[in-house]
Amino acid sequence: MLAETAKHSERTPKSLDYSSFRLRSLTPHMGAEVLDLDLANPLDAQQSRDLDDAFRDWKVLVFRDQAISRDQHKAFGRHFGMLHSHPMHKVGARGKDPEILPVITTQDSAYTAGDGWHTDVTCDPIPPMCSILRIEETPDGGGGDTLFANMALAYDLLSDAMKTFLSGLTAVHDGALPYLGAYKIEPPPGGYPKSEHPVVTVHPESGERILYINSGFTSHIKGLTPRESRGLLAMLFDHIATTPRIHCRVQWAPHTVTLWDNRCTQHHAVWDYYPECRRGERVSVLDDVAPTGV
Ligand code: SIN
Repeated sequence: MLAETAKHSERTPKSLDYSSFRLRSLTPHMGAEVLDLDLANPLDAQQSRDLDDAFRDWKVLVFRDQAISRDQHKAFGRHFGMLHSHPMHKVGARGKDPEILPVITTQDSAYTAGDGWHTDVTCDPIPPMCSILRIEETPDGGGGDTLFANMALAYDLLSDAMKTFLSGLTAVHDGALPYLGAYKIEPPPGGYPKSEHPVVTVHPESGERILYINSGFTSHIKGLTPRESRGLLAMLFDHIATTPRIHCRVQWAPHTVTLWDNRCTQHHAVWDYYPECRRGERVSVLDDVAPTGV
């Protein structure tokens, strides 16, 4: 079958040379490995500026051979803002530190967190702006990669008619969908968070338009009939999952750290390594503002 989208998106080539480090790109449009930066040390002023620029430009940054402690991981997260506490922490489904989300899959796991296309915690009124995952144990036989989707490119590749139609719409993002529906974890008193966000948002730093729905959390689109909402979301989820040119893939090794921008990406943790184990910890960072529409 031919590709659904023949259209090419005009994008300015991005820098691989920042003054304090170099990058090696994973794809031309998104994802880069950062060379020459040691996350065990506090960032100096130039490194901080370069990191912010590289993060805005590349959306997903991978740091290799970073044998950092939990405190150093959290300190790196605080470069971007205050740390987020995961809603599942309130039901005791996670570890002791509310700012650390253990990401552990063993042969006894009923599921692996994030094994489906999603953006982190979009059920929150102000979802976390970024997440930083540190993987310490990878399956011996390979696998356990994380796929990322560039949601600015996903938006660009839609037709002008579809972009116009989506622009004024609002979607509901419901924490019960993954946490209760998929993971079967009873909600805290008052239930899991549920929030409304525009279907098309504007990235606060790059100014790019972003397709902001995800199959993990988005339950429906307001103002449409249930059938219309289901049909539209199914088409958009299919566009995200089956357009490989919007994806990049991170292969983990012990002590790899990956930082991603939740405001313009989605990800999917691939559970292809059963019965082997994969272990790590994730830190997410609070945003200042809710996603804004066009
Ligand atoms: C997640 O944050 O959704 C988990 C990602 C992963 O385990 O690769």
